[in-house]
Amino acid sequence: MEVIADPIAMQRRAEAARRWGDRIALVPTMGFLHEGHLTLMREGRARASMLVASIFVNPTQFGPNEDLAHYPRDLSGDLAKLREVPVDVVFTPDREAIYTPGAQTWVEVTELTRGLCGAHRPGHFRGVTTIVAKLFNLVKPHFAIFGEKDFQQLRAIQRMVIDLNFDLEIVPMPIVREKDGLAMSSRNAYLSPDERRDALALSRALFAARDHYVAGMRDAETLRKTALKVIAETPKVELEYLEAVDADTLEWPARADRPILLAVAARVGTTRLIDNIVLGVRRP
Ligand code: PAF
Repeated sequence: MEVIADPIAMQRRAEAARRWGDRIALVPTMGFLHEGHLTLMREGRARASMLVASIFVNPTQFGPNEDLAHYPRDLSGDLAKLREVPVDVVFTPDREAIYTPGAQTWVEVTELTRGLCGAHRPGHFRGVTTIVAKLFNLVKPHFAIFGEKDFQQLRAIQRMVIDLNFDLEIVPMPIVREKDGLAMSSRNAYLSPDERRDALALSRALFAARDHYVAGMRDAETLRKTALKVIAETPKVELEYLEAVDADTLEWPARADRPILLAVAARVGTTRLIDNIVLGVRRP
Protein backbone atom coordinates (compact mmCIF):
# COMPACT_ATOMS: atom_id res chain seq x y z
CA MET A 1 0.00 0.00 0.00
CA GLU A 2 1.42 3.37 -1.02
CA VAL A 3 0.95 6.39 1.21
CA ILE A 4 1.10 9.67 -0.70
CA ALA A 5 1.00 13.06 1.00
CA ASP A 6 1.95 15.37 -1.87
CA PRO A 7 -1.03 16.44 -4.03
CA ILE A 8 1.12 16.69 -7.18
CA ALA A 9 2.52 13.19 -6.61
CA MET A 10 -1.05 11.94 -6.17
CA GLN A 11 -2.10 13.55 -9.43
CA ARG A 12 0.88 12.03 -11.30
CA ARG A 13 0.16 8.59 -9.80
CA ALA A 14 -3.49 8.85 -10.90
CA GLU A 15 -2.50 10.01 -14.41
CA ALA A 16 -0.09 7.07 -14.78
CA ALA A 17 -2.72 4.61 -13.53
CA ARG A 18 -5.23 5.93 -16.07
CA ARG A 19 -2.65 5.59 -18.86
CA TRP A 20 -2.13 1.92 -17.90
CA GLY A 21 -5.89 1.43 -18.15
CA ASP A 22 -6.66 1.26 -14.42
CA ARG A 23 -10.16 2.08 -13.23
CA ILE A 24 -9.82 4.21 -10.10
CA ALA A 25 -12.21 4.25 -7.13
CA LEU A 26 -11.94 6.92 -4.43
CA VAL A 27 -13.31 6.75 -0.90
CA PRO A 28 -12.88 10.19 0.70
CA THR A 29 -12.71 10.14 4.52
CA MET A 30 -11.63 12.23 7.46
CA GLY A 31 -10.04 9.17 9.08
CA PHE A 32 -10.74 7.42 12.41
CA LEU A 33 -12.13 4.65 10.26
CA HIS A 34 -14.94 2.32 11.33
CA GLU A 35 -16.86 -0.51 9.70
CA GLY A 36 -19.02 2.01 7.81
CA HIS A 37 -15.94 3.36 6.03
CA LEU A 38 -14.61 -0.14 5.41
CA THR A 39 -17.88 -1.11 3.71
CA LEU A 40 -17.33 1.80 1.31
CA MET A 41 -13.74 0.64 0.74
CA ARG A 42 -14.86 -2.90 -0.09
CA GLU A 43 -17.37 -1.52 -2.61
CA GLY A 44 -14.57 0.51 -4.20
CA ARG A 45 -12.34 -2.58 -4.23
CA ALA A 46 -15.04 -4.57 -6.06
CA ARG A 47 -15.53 -1.87 -8.70
CA ALA A 48 -12.02 -0.73 -9.55
CA SER A 49 -8.50 -1.97 -10.23
CA MET A 50 -7.00 0.87 -8.18
CA LEU A 51 -8.56 1.82 -4.86
CA VAL A 52 -7.61 5.13 -3.28
CA ALA A 53 -8.66 6.17 0.23
CA SER A 54 -8.13 9.77 1.24
CA ILE A 55 -7.70 10.81 4.85
CA PHE A 56 -7.95 14.55 5.39
CA VAL A 57 -9.66 16.36 8.25
CA ASN A 58 -10.93 19.22 6.14
CA PRO A 59 -10.81 22.49 8.13
CA THR A 60 -13.12 24.40 5.78
CA GLN A 61 -16.15 22.24 6.63
CA PHE A 62 -15.94 22.97 10.38
CA GLY A 63 -17.54 26.05 11.90
CA PRO A 64 -15.58 28.21 14.38
CA ASN A 65 -17.22 26.54 17.41
CA GLU A 66 -17.09 23.00 16.09
CA ASP A 67 -14.81 20.06 16.90
CA LEU A 68 -11.98 20.52 14.35
CA ALA A 69 -9.27 20.65 17.03
CA HIS A 70 -10.62 17.56 18.81
CA TYR A 71 -11.73 15.52 15.81
CA PRO A 72 -10.60 11.94 16.57
CA ARG A 73 -7.47 10.84 14.70
CA ASP A 74 -5.60 7.52 14.52
CA LEU A 75 -3.48 7.41 11.39
CA SER A 76 -1.56 4.23 12.24
CA GLY A 77 -4.81 2.40 13.17
CA ASP A 78 -6.41 3.64 9.93
CA LEU A 79 -3.47 2.47 7.81
CA ALA A 80 -3.64 -1.00 9.40
CA LYS A 81 -7.37 -1.24 8.57
CA LEU A 82 -6.81 -0.03 5.01
CA ARG A 83 -4.03 -2.57 4.44
CA GLU A 84 -6.54 -5.30 5.30
CA VAL A 85 -9.10 -4.21 2.63
CA PRO A 86 -6.65 -3.95 0.74
CA VAL A 87 -6.40 -0.34 -0.45
CA ASP A 88 -3.76 0.49 -3.09
CA VAL A 89 -3.08 4.14 -2.29
CA VAL A 90 -3.79 6.22 0.81
CA PHE A 91 -3.77 9.95 0.11
CA THR A 92 -2.99 11.89 3.31
CA PRO A 93 -2.23 15.48 2.36
CA ASP A 94 -1.66 18.14 4.97
CA ARG A 95 -3.66 21.29 5.27
CA GLU A 96 -1.04 23.62 3.82
CA ALA A 97 -0.57 21.47 0.71
CA ILE A 98 -4.30 21.38 0.01
CA TYR A 99 -5.20 25.00 0.78
CA THR A 100 -2.29 26.94 -0.67
CA PRO A 101 -1.82 30.59 0.39
CA GLY A 102 -4.09 32.93 -1.51
CA ALA A 103 -6.74 30.28 -2.27
CA GLN A 104 -10.05 32.03 -2.94
CA THR A 105 -12.12 29.58 -4.99
CA TRP A 106 -15.13 27.78 -3.54
CA VAL A 107 -17.56 25.26 -4.93
CA GLU A 108 -21.07 25.83 -3.62
CA VAL A 109 -24.26 23.90 -4.30
CA THR A 110 -26.99 26.35 -3.43
CA GLU A 111 -30.54 24.98 -3.05
CA LEU A 112 -29.81 21.46 -1.78
CA THR A 113 -27.67 22.80 1.05
CA ARG A 114 -30.07 25.44 2.37
CA GLY A 115 -32.09 23.32 4.81
CA LEU A 116 -31.38 20.49 7.28
CA CYS A 117 -27.70 20.57 8.37
CA GLY A 118 -27.04 23.49 6.00
CA ALA A 119 -29.33 25.71 8.06
CA HIS A 120 -27.46 24.84 11.27
CA ARG A 121 -23.87 24.67 9.99
CA PRO A 122 -23.28 27.76 7.85
CA GLY A 123 -20.47 27.20 5.35
CA HIS A 124 -20.23 23.47 6.09
CA PHE A 125 -21.37 22.18 2.70
CA ARG A 126 -19.34 24.78 0.83
CA GLY A 127 -16.28 23.33 2.60
CA VAL A 128 -17.37 19.77 1.74
CA THR A 129 -18.04 20.37 -1.96
CA THR A 130 -14.84 22.39 -2.33
CA ILE A 131 -12.63 19.65 -0.84
CA VAL A 132 -14.44 16.89 -2.71
CA ALA A 133 -14.01 18.75 -6.02
CA LYS A 134 -10.31 19.17 -5.23
CA LEU A 135 -9.99 15.45 -4.38
CA PHE A 136 -11.67 14.55 -7.67
CA ASN A 137 -9.10 16.68 -9.53
CA LEU A 138 -6.20 15.13 -7.62
CA VAL A 139 -7.24 11.45 -7.59
CA LYS A 140 -9.08 11.45 -10.96
CA PRO A 141 -11.44 8.63 -9.96
CA HIS A 142 -13.88 6.80 -12.21
CA PHE A 143 -15.99 6.02 -9.12
CA ALA A 144 -16.36 7.85 -5.81
CA ILE A 145 -18.13 6.08 -2.96
CA PHE A 146 -20.17 7.97 -0.33
CA GLY A 147 -22.36 6.77 2.53
CA GLU A 148 -26.02 7.72 2.83
CA LYS A 149 -25.55 8.58 6.50
CA ASP A 150 -24.55 12.06 5.27
CA PHE A 151 -27.53 12.13 2.93
CA GLN A 152 -27.51 15.87 2.30
CA GLN A 153 -23.76 15.75 1.59
CA LEU A 154 -24.36 12.92 -0.88
CA ARG A 155 -27.13 14.84 -2.67
CA ALA A 156 -24.97 18.00 -2.86
CA ILE A 157 -22.05 16.03 -4.31
CA GLN A 158 -24.31 14.30 -6.85
CA ARG A 159 -25.58 17.73 -7.93
CA MET A 160 -22.04 19.16 -8.13
CA VAL A 161 -20.92 16.27 -10.35
CA ILE A 162 -23.76 16.98 -12.78
CA ASP A 163 -23.41 20.76 -12.67
CA LEU A 164 -19.61 20.81 -13.11
CA ASN A 165 -19.47 17.90 -15.61
CA PHE A 166 -17.16 15.72 -13.51
CA ASP A 167 -16.57 12.57 -15.54
CA LEU A 168 -17.14 10.01 -12.78
CA GLU A 169 -19.84 7.96 -11.11
CA ILE A 170 -21.00 8.62 -7.57
CA VAL A 171 -21.80 5.36 -5.80
CA PRO A 172 -24.12 5.79 -2.78
CA MET A 173 -23.98 3.16 -0.04
CA PRO A 174 -26.57 2.43 2.68
CA ILE A 175 -25.98 3.47 6.29
CA VAL A 176 -24.05 0.91 8.33
CA ARG A 177 -25.48 0.49 11.83
CA GLU A 178 -24.31 -1.11 15.05
CA LYS A 179 -26.34 -4.19 16.06
CA ASP A 180 -28.54 -2.02 18.30
CA GLY A 181 -29.33 0.46 15.49
CA LEU A 182 -26.87 3.31 16.18
CA ALA A 183 -25.59 4.67 12.87
CA MET A 184 -21.81 4.25 12.71
CA SER A 185 -19.89 7.51 12.96
CA SER A 186 -16.38 8.54 13.98
CA ARG A 187 -18.04 10.95 16.42
CA ASN A 188 -19.60 8.03 18.35
CA ALA A 189 -16.15 7.78 19.95
CA TYR A 190 -17.00 10.94 21.94
CA LEU A 191 -19.99 9.29 23.68
CA SER A 192 -19.85 8.06 27.28
CA PRO A 193 -21.67 4.73 27.91
CA ASP A 194 -24.77 6.62 29.18
CA GLU A 195 -24.72 8.98 26.21
CA ARG A 196 -24.36 6.09 23.81
CA ARG A 197 -27.52 4.55 25.28
CA ASP A 198 -29.36 7.89 24.93
CA ALA A 199 -28.12 8.24 21.34
CA LEU A 200 -30.15 5.18 20.39
CA ALA A 201 -33.24 7.41 20.57
CA LEU A 202 -32.33 8.73 17.09
CA SER A 203 -32.50 5.40 15.26
CA ARG A 204 -35.42 4.26 17.45
CA ALA A 205 -37.37 7.35 16.34
CA LEU A 206 -36.61 6.76 12.65
CA PHE A 207 -37.53 3.07 12.92
CA ALA A 208 -40.85 3.98 14.61
CA ALA A 209 -41.68 6.26 11.67
CA ARG A 210 -40.63 3.51 9.23
CA ASP A 211 -42.99 1.05 10.99
CA HIS A 212 -45.78 3.61 10.69
CA TYR A 213 -44.98 4.06 6.98
CA VAL A 214 -44.96 0.29 6.43
CA ALA A 215 -48.37 0.12 8.15
CA GLY A 216 -49.70 2.45 5.44
CA MET A 217 -49.19 5.99 6.78
CA ARG A 218 -48.10 8.31 3.96
CA ASP A 219 -48.58 11.74 5.54
CA ALA A 220 -45.07 13.15 6.06
CA GLU A 221 -46.02 15.40 8.98
CA THR A 222 -47.67 12.50 10.84
CA LEU A 223 -44.57 10.36 10.27
CA ARG A 224 -42.41 13.19 11.57
CA LYS A 225 -44.57 13.44 14.70
CA THR A 226 -44.27 9.69 15.26
CA ALA A 227 -40.49 10.08 15.31
CA LEU A 228 -40.62 13.26 17.43
CA LYS A 229 -42.62 11.45 20.11
CA VAL A 230 -39.90 8.81 20.47
CA ILE A 231 -37.14 11.44 20.72
CA ALA A 232 -39.11 13.28 23.41
CA GLU A 233 -38.98 10.14 25.59
CA THR A 234 -35.21 10.70 26.02
CA PRO A 235 -34.89 14.19 27.52
CA LYS A 236 -31.06 14.12 27.37
CA VAL A 237 -31.29 14.18 23.58
CA GLU A 238 -31.30 17.84 22.56
CA LEU A 239 -32.96 17.98 19.18
CA GLU A 240 -31.51 20.30 16.53
CA TYR A 241 -33.98 19.31 13.82
CA LEU A 242 -36.15 16.42 12.74
CA GLU A 243 -37.59 16.96 9.28
CA ALA A 244 -39.53 15.04 6.67
CA VAL A 245 -38.52 16.32 3.23
CA ASP A 246 -38.61 15.17 -0.39
CA ALA A 247 -35.73 12.67 -0.69
CA ASP A 248 -34.60 14.17 -4.03
CA THR A 249 -35.03 17.92 -3.64
CA LEU A 250 -34.65 17.93 0.19
CA GLU A 251 -37.51 20.42 0.22
CA TRP A 252 -40.46 20.55 2.55
CA PRO A 253 -43.21 19.40 2.34
CA ALA A 254 -42.53 15.85 1.25
CA ARG A 255 -45.27 14.60 -1.05
CA ALA A 256 -47.11 11.41 -0.13
CA ASP A 257 -46.49 9.89 -3.61
CA ARG A 258 -42.71 10.43 -3.51
CA PRO A 259 -39.93 9.03 -1.31
CA ILE A 260 -39.62 10.89 1.97
CA LEU A 261 -36.32 11.59 3.71
CA LEU A 262 -36.72 11.68 7.46
CA ALA A 263 -33.56 13.32 8.79
CA VAL A 264 -32.54 14.08 12.35
CA ALA A 265 -29.70 15.97 14.03
CA ALA A 266 -29.33 16.13 17.79
CA ARG A 267 -26.82 16.71 20.54
CA VAL A 268 -26.19 14.03 23.12
CA GLY A 269 -23.99 15.69 25.72
CA THR A 270 -21.65 17.77 23.61
CA THR A 271 -21.68 15.36 20.64
CA ARG A 272 -23.67 16.27 17.55
CA LEU A 273 -25.12 13.22 15.83
CA ILE A 274 -27.09 12.83 12.60
CA ASP A 275 -29.16 9.99 11.20
CA ASN A 276 -31.78 9.49 8.51
CA ILE A 277 -34.05 7.05 6.77
CA VAL A 278 -35.65 7.11 3.31
CA LEU A 279 -39.26 5.97 3.24
CA GLY A 280 -40.32 4.73 -0.19
CA VAL A 281 -38.15 3.59 -3.06
CA ARG A 282 -35.79 6.21 -4.43
CA ARG A 283 -34.21 5.68 -7.83
CA PRO A 284 -30.46 6.47 -7.74
O1 PAF B 1 -18.01 12.56 4.92
C1 PAF B 1 -16.85 12.93 5.21
O2 PAF B 1 -16.11 12.24 5.91
C2 PAF B 1 -16.35 14.27 4.70
O3 PAF B 1 -17.37 15.21 4.68
C3 PAF B 1 -15.65 14.17 3.34
C4 PAF B 1 -16.59 13.69 2.25
C5 PAF B 1 -14.47 13.20 3.43
C6 PAF B 1 -15.12 15.54 2.92
O4 PAF B 1 -14.21 16.05 3.83
